[in-house]
Amino acid sequence: MATPHIEVEDKNLFAKTVLMPGDPLRAEYIAKNYLTDVIMINKVRNMFGYTGYYKGKKITVMGSGMGMPSIGIYSYELYNNYDVDKIIRVGSCGAYSPDAKLYDIIIVKDAYSESSFAKTAYNYQENIISSDDFLTNNLSEAAKNLNIPFTISTIHSSDVFYRAHGNVMVDVRDKYNCVGVEMESFALFANAKYLNKKAACILTVSDSLVTKEYTTAEERQKSFNKMMEIALEAA
Ligand code: HPA
Repeated sequence: MATPHIEVEDKNLFAKTVLMPGDPLRAEYIAKNYLTDVIMINKVRNMFGYTGYYKGKKITVMGSGMGMPSIGIYSYELYNNYDVDKIIRVGSCGAYSPDAKLYDIIIVKDAYSESSFAKTAYNYQENIISSDDFLTNNLSEAAKNLNIPFTISTIHSSDVFYRAHGNVMVDVRDKYNCVGVEMESFALFANAKYLNKKAACILTVSDSLVTKEYTTAEERQKSFNKMMEIALEAA
């Protein structure tokens, strides 16, 4: 049955594994460039979703939107209403570590957050939630097989993009060993944990909070392709 945010009536239109970029236009790009026999399954709020096949395996790609409230809604409905088992977020992050360079690939082991998402939703008191070991290991193995370098680390899932208070490098990076920052993983991992499902996340560094460098849209697309190949192989 359709949800308030997803118009899909038949669960079978969803694959068991869903790749979620933040940007719905990225979902369209993945569907057009990597999948065969594609059908569009959702366009409510332009949060495009597509189901197709990658090397014979059924895969859905759908945007999550930006931030924990948005991915919180979509991932919950995918797991709970559409029987999705695995969600792999394919996103971008800002670098906190001087060692993380633009276009580097980061596989997320743990998400640290000061967000109230998990407390409010599930009374989870912890501020670090892990990705699924099995799925995360699949990502690492896929990257190794494709000969693509990566690091596996803790990421900061932040509710705030523009931050004027405190010193994030001291208060978050140094304290929790976060290589970079994004805005979704913690909520995705919390939902997966509560619903007994699997979640993982792979990120490309799109900007650096250390050097203040950032990537152009075209360059981002290229590095995004590498990350997508890893995620599709892992799926
Ligand atoms: N901050 C938060 N989220 C992000 C960033 C950032 O600098 N870059 C990509 N996602």
